[in-house]
Amino acid sequence: MVEPKIAPSILAADFTRLGDQVEAVAQAGADRLHMDIMDGQFVPNISFGPLVLQALSKVTRLPLETHLMIEKPDRYLEDFAKAGASSLIVHTEGANHLHRTLDRIRSLGLKVGVAINPATPATILDPILDMVDLVLVMTVNPGFGGQKFLERTLPKITEIRNRIEKLQLNIELEVDGGIDPVSAPRVVAAGATVLVAGSAVFGSPHGIQKAINMLKSNS
Ligand code: DX5
Ligand code: ZN
Repeated sequence: MVEPKIAPSILAADFTRLGDQVEAVAQAGADRLHMDIMDGQFVPNISFGPLVLQALSKVTRLPLETHLMIEKPDRYLEDFAKAGASSLIVHTEGANHLHRTLDRIRSLGLKVGVAINPATPATILDPILDMVDLVLVMTVNPGFGGQKFLERTLPKITEIRNRIEKLQLNIELEVDGGIDPVSAPRVVAAGATVLVAGSAVFGSPHGIQKAINMLKSNS
């Protein structure tokens, strides 16, 4: 099986020493950083905004993959681009004019991602699949780190993988929520190529290096 890419979510990091934590995941072989942006509207929680990306972009070479869990994401695309995002991921459920939003992300020169919640069917992606570089399948309901992996998302991952293969598209398939050494091999077997992990990286009792090794090699 192909080794998955690992995208640690800094939501689970120790914010009092964020720079060190980012350095630690970079050293441990993380492929990118996952930035969870929450506005207290699209999801109940509030996290952080472009200032944090701007600060981190000065201390790391890792790409800043930015997951926008916000209402009307169009309002902030440019701000996050300026702050150093490498890709912007918008939810089908939060963007009223998805084509336009995806076009705008592309025109900002960033990688284009689309995310779907656990209760959203894969078919919603059909009209826009060839417009994106990455599909993010939520394997928990977004809003908080440390939730339990939802098993019932597994067939949907495979469904999207099959669709990507059938259309011969060059798209990454990423999963987000409750990914740990137990769920990792299952989502990879289902067709995921990139794993977001917050608690399983920053909260691992084995330390960051071992945590990332386990997520990669277990799969
Ligand atoms: C959930 C976020 C996730 C979260 C993952 O709303 O989108 O990226 O930080 O956290 P864990 O890996 O702890 O489930
Ligand atoms: Zn996320």
